Amino acid sequence: MKIYTKQDLNDYSLSLTYDDISLIPTRISQVKTRSEVNTKFKFLGLELSVPVISSPMDTVTGIEMAKELTNLGCIGIVNRFDSSVKELFANGNLADGMRAVSISLTSDEQLIERASENNMIVCIDTANANNAYVLKKCEEIKSKYKVKVIVGNIANGATLKQLSDAGADAVRIGIGGGSMCTTSVQTGIGIGQVSSLIDVYYTRKKEKLDIALIADGGIKGPGDVAKALACGADIVMLGRMLAGTKETPGEVIKYDDQLWKKYRGSASFGVKMKNEFIEGEETLVPYKGSVKNVVNGISDGLRSAMSYLNCESLDDLKNIDSFAVLSTSSYLERLPRK
Ligand code: IMP
Repeated sequence: MKIYTKQDLNDYSLSLTYDDISLIPTRISQVKTRSEVNTKFKFLGLELSVPVISSPMDTVTGIEMAKELTNLGCIGIVNRFDSSVKELFANGNLADGMRAVSISLTSDEQLIERASENNMIVCIDTANANNAYVLKKCEEIKSKYKVKVIVGNIANGATLKQLSDAGADAVRIGIGGGSMCTTSVQTGIGIGQVSSLIDVYYTRKKEKLDIALIADGGIKGPGDVAKALACGADIVMLGRMLAGTKETPGEVIKYDDQLWKKYRGSASFGVKMKNEFIEGEETLVPYKGSVKNVVNGISDGLRSAMSYLNCESLDDLKNIDSFAVLSTSSYLERLPRK
């Protein structure tokens, strides 16, 4: 079997996603236990302990989730539909413990101003970063305020330089891969996540750009987090993995003798509440209890992957260069059987 390097995966003829690849340990690991490895790193000037950022979706990140993720050494981006952020700011209540807010192209200036005063990251939450109005908004914010700006989304590196020139500090990578996403079905647009990430990673390298890469959408478990980082992402953005936890906005629902919470796409009917173009689904996910358990599970899985691969730091993991491309049967063999 061929052991693929990242460059090989970049040259691969087909678009690949997380389930198509696997990480291969090729060295004797010097890591004694997984608690020994270091997952601390700096992202947009913030010290983080686990490379997780929550998606700014209305069923994922409100103020409670954002604060708890900060406690856990991650980042939560409060969704742009949440008016309580404005209230917090209006009451002179500093956004204690919150690190990031999202805005739309039409969000009012005050929100950005307050976010800037509070040293918060601003995420321009749009489906397509390759848009003149998104670039203009990013340029405007960067020229007026001293804030870090996240833009999104892109599916390959063709426009990375333009986004970077507009001042974007980080970019969300992924079109069509989100678990509630019907973009590809509705529009025919999108690329597998592994191919998207690697293409943007090499573009950043080749063009020597200073922009952080966020793997956004399609991450199903800690193993996919490890794969995303090994494909060059600096951090992963999660929707579904965090959905259903206690800290997400929304009620716990009892149905069929089980507890659930709602999870829906930002472009779903439930969010838009009108019959315009819908690119997202809505579902119920099992209630998962505290988000701390989910984050700890990710941290454990990631540390274990790093120990297999002889990686002491996340930078080592990003430099991993030994991948398998899986046949369908070897993919299926990887799954537990009952
Ligand atoms: P998940 O972690 O696989 O559930 O993916 C979450 C990501 O899906 C988000 O961060 C967005 O990039 C994307 N997303 C959220 N809502 C929608 C939608 O309504 N349509 C398409 N993509 C969406």
